[in-house]
Amino acid sequence: MVIVGIETSCDETAIGIVENGHRLLSNAVASSLALHGPYGGVIPEIAARAHVETIWHVMAQALEEAQLTPETLDAVAVTQGPGLPGALHIGLAFAKGLALSLDRPLIPVDHLAAHLYAGQMSWPELAPPYIGLVVSGGHTLLCAVHADCRFELLGETRDDAVGEAFDKVARLLGLGYPGGPVIDRLSEEGRADAIPLPRSTARSPFDFSFSGLKTAVAHYVQKLAPGSRLQAPGNGLTPHTSSLTPQETADVAASFQEAAVDILISKTVKACHRAGLTTVVVGGGVASNRRLRARFGEEAAQKKLHVVFPPPELCVDNGAMVAGLAYPLLRQGRVAPLTLASDPNLCLAAS
Ligand code: KG4
Ligand code: ZN
Repeated sequence: MVIVGIETSCDETAIGIVENGHRLLSNAVASSLALHGPYGGVIPEIAARAHVETIWHVMAQALEEAQLTPETLDAVAVTQGPGLPGALHIGLAFAKGLALSLDRPLIPVDHLAAHLYAGQMSWPELAPPYIGLVVSGGHTLLCAVHADCRFELLGETRDDAVGEAFDKVARLLGLGYPGGPVIDRLSEEGRADAIPLPRSTARSPFDFSFSGLKTAVAHYVQKLAPGSRLQAPGNGLTPHTSSLTPQETADVAASFQEAAVDILISKTVKACHRAGLTTVVVGGGVASNRRLRARFGEEAAQKKLHVVFPPPELCVDNGAMVAGLAYPLLRQGRVAPLTLASDPNLCLAAS
């Protein structure tokens, strides 16, 4: 069963082709990131327009990489949500056109569940139940993943997503957008214990809160360099600059990253204990973070957990994870009519 997966929830126009839920045949991605950089965040209209302009090229690339023609595709999968409304709409319209013209089933996929399925795709011997931790630019959540693609939500962020916190702290430090990869790199030159920062916990045991941590970083930076602000001045689109020294900047980055990683790990370990599960899958853009991977590795050894991270190319938004998850969904008959609407607020629909 060869399935094409279409992903346009944010700034990546991504199309992947996967056989039987595991065998990756192609994974083509075009990103409009460079167009958003100057604004310090993704501009929805620019993202949607870029999807329209590139989606055909990405489809052609995915077919070429897989050495397939459209007629050899057995089903069409698409991200239904969550994501930016205009961006989701382009992918859905394209997927419907493809399904209609090829007379193939259309399979709606939840983007967050797909981030976790990327772990199963990379490690075919891995089987539910396990604890899933999604860490992306728009979401931070813990769930229990059961057999038959049931995703049981245990907790989520009450304010900022962890990727959003990385991006906002990077902006405060004048490091550009997206901030996660820069903070990851820069932290190697900083001291993780340079600045005492709160490990804020939300009231519910498996919910997260990152806005207190972000604000504590902002206050610290303001004291060091009066005039720094978390939000850029004016219309909010001006790139921010910082007057911290390079060593101070690296220390703030490393201390913030350590606090964020501490919060993610402690909640995840608690969820494992509560659910009586010993396997964890971490998915989403922030799962590329090297410190998060290293610290989870140490924790896994100490606590006898099995922690799985997809390879970095399957952590960022991609079409292969959508095509992969669609395979078990299709086997369960979870096919949609062509009247399917996108759902920007979807959260673990496959549960
Ligand atoms: O999953 P993703 O590609 O898109 C969403 O669905 O949101 O995640 C993007 C987020 C951004 O906030 C970006 O800064 C963060 O992932 N990110 C990282 C790293 N690479 C990407 N955060 C920390 N460390 C990284 N290495
Ligand atoms: Zn994502």
